[in-house]
Amino acid sequence: MKVLVVGAGAREHALAAALQADGRTDVVCAPGNPGIAREVRVVPLDAASPDAVLALAAAEQVDLTVIGPEAPLAAGVADRFTAAGRPLFGPTRAAAQIETSKAFAKRVMARHGVPTARALVCDGADAALAAVAAGTLGWPLVVKADGLAAGKGVVIADDRADAEAAVRAAMVDGVFGAAGARVVLEECLQGPELSYFVIASGTDYVACGSAQDHKRLLDGDHGPNTGGMGAFSPSVLLTPDLAAQIEREVVEPVLRGMAAEGTPFTGFLYCGLMLTAGGPKVIEFNCRFGDPEAQVVLPRLDEPLAPLLARAAAGQPLPATLRFRDDVTVGVVVAAGGYPGTLDTGHEIDGLDRVAADCPGVAVRFAGVAGRGDALVVNGGRVLTVVGQAADYAAAMRAAYDGVARVRFPGMQTRSDIGARALAGSRR
Ligand code: AMP
Ligand code: GLY
Repeated sequence: MKVLVVGAGAREHALAAALQADGRTDVVCAPGNPGIAREVRVVPLDAASPDAVLALAAAEQVDLTVIGPEAPLAAGVADRFTAAGRPLFGPTRAAAQIETSKAFAKRVMARHGVPTARALVCDGADAALAAVAAGTLGWPLVVKADGLAAGKGVVIADDRADAEAAVRAAMVDGVFGAAGARVVLEECLQGPELSYFVIASGTDYVACGSAQDHKRLLDGDHGPNTGGMGAFSPSVLLTPDLAAQIEREVVEPVLRGMAAEGTPFTGFLYCGLMLTAGGPKVIEFNCRFGDPEAQVVLPRLDEPLAPLLARAAAGQPLPATLRFRDDVTVGVVVAAGGYPGTLDTGHEIDGLDRVAADCPGVAVRFAGVAGRGDALVVNGGRVLTVVGQAADYAAAMRAAYDGVARVRFPGMQTRSDIGARALAGSRR
């Protein structure tokens, strides 16, 4: 089978590597990056253009196209493929709203009884400020821009002044552009977070792993929110009973509800959950795999990925369960200086050859890199993810950080505690 992976980050590198791992799948990644190109053929692409993606899939004569990030899905790439009769794994633009519109996701959850934070959807600044003043959702109050905001659209406001400032920033100053024209106000939930993934095809689905992300920049969950500074898999919070509860209370009603309402979901469904005293509740859905979660979940999958995604794309029945290896993974994100603010880019990345030579079994998944001669230079916020895989979390953490210790460039930022939470809560 020949598969086109669309995207340019470490998640797409992990997807391409997982697809290629069966030894029978020919993978091309577009636009990819010069780091991914060390392992997988990459070709240029304007991924935001559905016509361009379709033209590339036709020119490359691929059997399946897999979309990594949300933006091409929001632009309607799946709709374009359906119209042209070409197989693609990923949701339509309408179904992608489960991520691209928090108001849409809230409405689906409310109509189908999915446990989530109580919320108010506000279409104008006056309505939002009035709702803040009424204080019916309690304090702290979570203020979320409705649309895509690159992980920066959520403010946890301690008091009325903070909440009003967050509403004004989104709705009056327009700091998130059109994504902030509507806001969702939510009660603040308490509890640990976990990410639960399924491969969905309409109402059919199969569980595809769990992970715990570390969204804050600094150790101990301090500092600003980021796209994710590291993750481990599986989640140590997930028992078989909890997985069954998540599928019964979250996955099944959402997939059934979306199908019944004419927006059936096909693709990776990412359930971001908080384990509250009242049970698991949805914090967010994403219409794609997580990043860095893909880097830690996919290497544990013990099944050929391409035929599975092809079945889902074609609407053929999915297996009841997937086999995963017994070992665990820890993935540490290496970020550029300045991230998540103004980036310090252009520096050459040293030590990658030493990771390859000294750290067998450690994978490096590339994101914000550009090529300069034979070298790679920093060209984005999250530069790469170093993934350790071992029999237990302590060993996987050691492997990942052994790899990280060999990577060097000016301004480099990493957390030193990715995986520590797994050790504390480890059942292994
Ligand atoms: P999101 O972009 O929706 O994933 O939100 C980013 C982060 O904000 C989440 O990972 C949570 O840590 C936090 N968050 C979002 N919604 C809530 C909520 N209702 N209660 C508490 N924390 C939240
Ligand atoms: N790691 C969070 C995300 O992919 O949205």
